[in-house]
Amino acid sequence: MPVKYIPYYPNTVQGQAILDNIIRNRRVLRYRDNDKVYERIQRGMPYYEMEKIEVVGVGSQPAKKNENMLIRGECISACAYLKDKNIKVDLAYIDPPFASGADYARKVYLRKNPKIAEAIAKAEEELELEELRVFEEKMYGDIWNKEDYLNWMYENLQAIKSVMSETASIYVHLDWHIGHYVKVLMDEVFGEGNFKNEIAWCYSGGAVPVDRFPKKHDTIYWYSKSNEEWIYIPEYRDYSKKTQQRGRTQVKGSDAKLRAEGTPINDWWVDIAPVTSPTDHEKMYYATQKPKALLERIIKASSNEGMIVADFFGGSGVTAKVAHDLKRKFIHCDVGINSIQTTRDRLVAAGAEFDIYDIQDGVSLFRNPVQTMDKLKSLITGLKNEDALDSFWEGGIQDSKLGLVPVYIPNLLDHSTKVLDIPLINRIINEAMPDLPDGTKQVIVFYVDIENDAELKKFISEYNATGMDIVLRDLKSILDDVVINDEINYQIKESKTGFKIEIKSFISDRLIQKIDAYNQKKSLNSSRKDIFDEDSKENEEGNGNRIKKKMLTPISISRHGLELIELISLDCTSKDGIWKSDFELKIDKNGYVILNGKKTKDLWNTKIVSDKKPLRMKIRNIAGDESIIIIDNHS
Ligand SMILES: C[S@@+](CC[C@H](N)C(=O)[O-])C[C@H]1O[C@@H](n2cnc3c(N)ncnc32)[C@H](O)[C@@H]1O
Repeated sequence: MPVKYIPYYPNTVQGQAILDNIIRNRRVLRYRDNDKVYERIQRGMPYYEMEKIEVVGVGSQPAKKNENMLIRGECISACAYLKDKNIKVDLAYIDPPFASGADYARKVYLRKNPKIAEAIAKAEEELELEELRVFEEKMYGDIWNKEDYLNWMYENLQAIKSVMSETASIYVHLDWHIGHYVKVLMDEVFGEGNFKNEIAWCYSGGAVPVDRFPKKHDTIYWYSKSNEEWIYIPEYRDYSKKTQQRGRTQVKGSDAKLRAEGTPINDWWVDIAPVTSPTDHEKMYYATQKPKALLERIIKASSNEGMIVADFFGGSGVTAKVAHDLKRKFIHCDVGINSIQTTRDRLVAAGAEFDIYDIQDGVSLFRNPVQTMDKLKSLITGLKNEDALDSFWEGGIQDSKLGLVPVYIPNLLDHSTKVLDIPLINRIINEAMPDLPDGTKQVIVFYVDIENDAELKKFISEYNATGMDIVLRDLKSILDDVVINDEINYQIKESKTGFKIEIKSFISDRLIQKIDAYNQKKSLNSSRKDIFDEDSKENEEGNGNRIKKKMLTPISISRHGLELIELISLDCTSKDGIWKSDFELKIDKNGYVILNGKKTKDLWNTKIVSDKKPLRMKIRNIAGDESIIIIDNHS
């Protein structure tokens, strides 16, 4: 019996610890008395219609079917689909957002103006014009509070587990930001007994802090579904010179021979370099892209040829590409359209065959969820950030009669908030609204879907005792109005050898607006002091004018806008329905043509030629928006 108890700190720092937030109840983790996760898991994975939008390869022949899939949509909904179709995966690798607190952006490269491409290419040998042709756009957001992240991750892990075959493994790639917390979740979801390894992937390069050790490793957790049977094919490396010299024995003079294959690779990997250098041939210009060698090691260790390898946060498509190269089947899923396009093009170049699906989850995504959120916010007239409101509210609208009207927008990165249901409206009424400033008369709640309209309205009328009105608004209607197609002008000519389409002009209001906004931001950021400082710094190196010019020259595009085109695809099979690319021409970031996935040494010259009659043409702009037009053979 202790003599006394010395007080310590019974309360954890808010938002930091999860262990005392969790109680085990019905084998489902629960956060304090919050039942949300439990209710959502009880309800099941949200299943939406899947629209097949493109077939690449054999799938176009009616008798055959592609087993490889690219799915645009959330992990949890992709799993719902696979489960419904009884498709099991044999290996899952996921590299989800790390909760790093960052918004990831990608560089968007204007292509060379094809009308003067040769001249530009020549000029570039002398002048570094890179800065002038590049702007950035948000790709995906990674800003979460820990609890929301862990709730979300918990559901994703449960969803993935539900589609894993009995002998399957899962590898979850994270780092110091959240890895240890997710390890706890994985113990819960997969069972501590199924933990196999915590792999440290070590690398070097990048920024080095002065106040602590440089953080130079990621952590990959490997669990199997079953503790009886799983695949592990060890990889060996050669014994050290010393061991070889003494005849591959454990110690000098011993008779016991070490195994012939070499020594097995252990759980810290120091021999795989990250993809960093722009000249790296595997670089896809996708933030957080992982190297092929990393996936090669994982896929070879935990799967056999012919098995299905899935990546539900697929990014640049590294898992699908390596799985294909290693003769496995692949499923690639990602919420962002840029991921699907990057992966599609990567796999086309590799000669893979696959189908592309789009999950019809309610919001026609404007490239990706982060950009859709930004777009939505900009479209809600009068919406502004308001200091008086906490972060639950997206902001408020100042109304002359009602005063400040707080606005709630669901987080498109988190599927659970998209559906307006009783638990969510309950939270709004009982947690969020009571904290609003005195005198608030109305709130606006945007939704993507309502679970049960009548029940929800009944709940509001019975339980809303706040004295404030709740106005419900459908988010989808806002977006549908604004997605305008790019305008394509072309001329088609038929000759003995086939059809030649010349693109005359390409007008993309979406991109023009984006470039204007980028130029404005840049000119605001480059204050006179910056210019002076950079100037003098460069002057010391002897070429001050160059920097000055670079900082002040806005990005401009020609009147015909052809440098905004990334890919042209011709469907010669059908005028409607699922896309089949019979001829495609991609323009790489240096202006060179990639024809049907094969690199060429030709600069693009505004034309695309096909030996079959094109029925439809799809043009993808450099930010990833796609426009389709039916070909009029008389234009
Ligand atoms: C760290 S990146 C993956 C990078 C990838 N391993 C590679 O090597 O290119 C995370 C990806 O997850 C995607 N993502 C975020 N939330 C998602 C969700 N709920 N479902 C599916 N994908 C999601 C993002 O769009 C992003 O491409």
